[in-house]
Amino acid sequence: MTDLQIEKEFKASARAHANIAVAKYWGKRNSDLNLPLFDSVAFNVEGLYTETTAVWDDDDFRDELIINDWQVPSHVMGRVQRILDSIRKDVGWSKRCVLRSRNNFARSAGLASSASGCAAAALAAASAAGLELSESQLSMLARLGSGSAARSIPAGWTRWYAGSDPDGSDAFAQTIAPPDHWPLHVFVVQISATQKAVSSSEAMMRCEKSPFWQAYLHEASQAADYAQTAILQRDFSALTYAMHHNMMLLHALCMTCDPPVCYVEPKSLELVKRILRACQAVQACCTMDAGANVVVLCEGASYPFVKNDIIALGVPFIQTKIGTGAQRI
Ligand code: PMV
Repeated sequence: MTDLQIEKEFKASARAHANIAVAKYWGKRNSDLNLPLFDSVAFNVEGLYTETTAVWDDDDFRDELIINDWQVPSHVMGRVQRILDSIRKDVGWSKRCVLRSRNNFARSAGLASSASGCAAAALAAASAAGLELSESQLSMLARLGSGSAARSIPAGWTRWYAGSDPDGSDAFAQTIAPPDHWPLHVFVVQISATQKAVSSSEAMMRCEKSPFWQAYLHEASQAADYAQTAILQRDFSALTYAMHHNMMLLHALCMTCDPPVCYVEPKSLELVKRILRACQAVQACCTMDAGANVVVLCEGASYPFVKNDIIALGVPFIQTKIGTGAQRI
């Protein structure tokens, strides 16, 4: 090789934040493409993120994913594999990809690590391959790995549109309000750092057999519009109703499927009950995704009260704010 023939390195790094849903994604119209039944609405969490570096090379090995120094076995790489396969198809090459990923929080414990992980992987791997994708295209790419990852690409408060195209070309997320639209405090309360026993995808499938499934469909179909209006109007009482109602629907549904799925732990319930009591008097509300951990939102004036209530629980927590979108680093 002459001095001028410098080998191009296909390498890029990205950071993406976890997102927590106000109106949740639960139920798929297509499980291969992770297409949801309904629109969902969420916010990014600034303090919870994944950083990923992607390198494409010509080695004769398989793709690799290393999360916090753990080499993910190839048979469980399925989610990320779909993202890499889609990039290979777009670029028209057969290189393999090595992804090195680091979370600053517990993985698979209901804190949306798959969302931040797949969003960071999608942005890093697409950039490393030289693809210049729009935000919507990146959101759809991340979605292939984990549905909720679609919402970790855009910034702030986001809405993921379920769309209607069978190929999912209209099922992406967009910002509905930027991070500074509503300066709420976010507490992420870690009730458990152990991995959940039942994955979200498995639980979603089981829930379709719950006797409450039809009732759930009816309620869930209206949740995103309601949540979006509450957020845009900065109406804390409406946000509280939206979050609590949607959280209870999801967990009630999970508990009534066969075999039942119970993500709620005693300490989760204790905190949820504290917030349900507190929200009669102060501006505070909470939610839980598919895991035991609880995320609490509150307005400035309520902050000291809410913080004391959380401290009284005696479990670790972080204080943070509404987060930005996925970025190259
Ligand atoms: O994206 P998945 O397959 O991890 O599912 C996420 C499901 C919930 O977190 C419970 C809800 C949501 O909208 O994020």
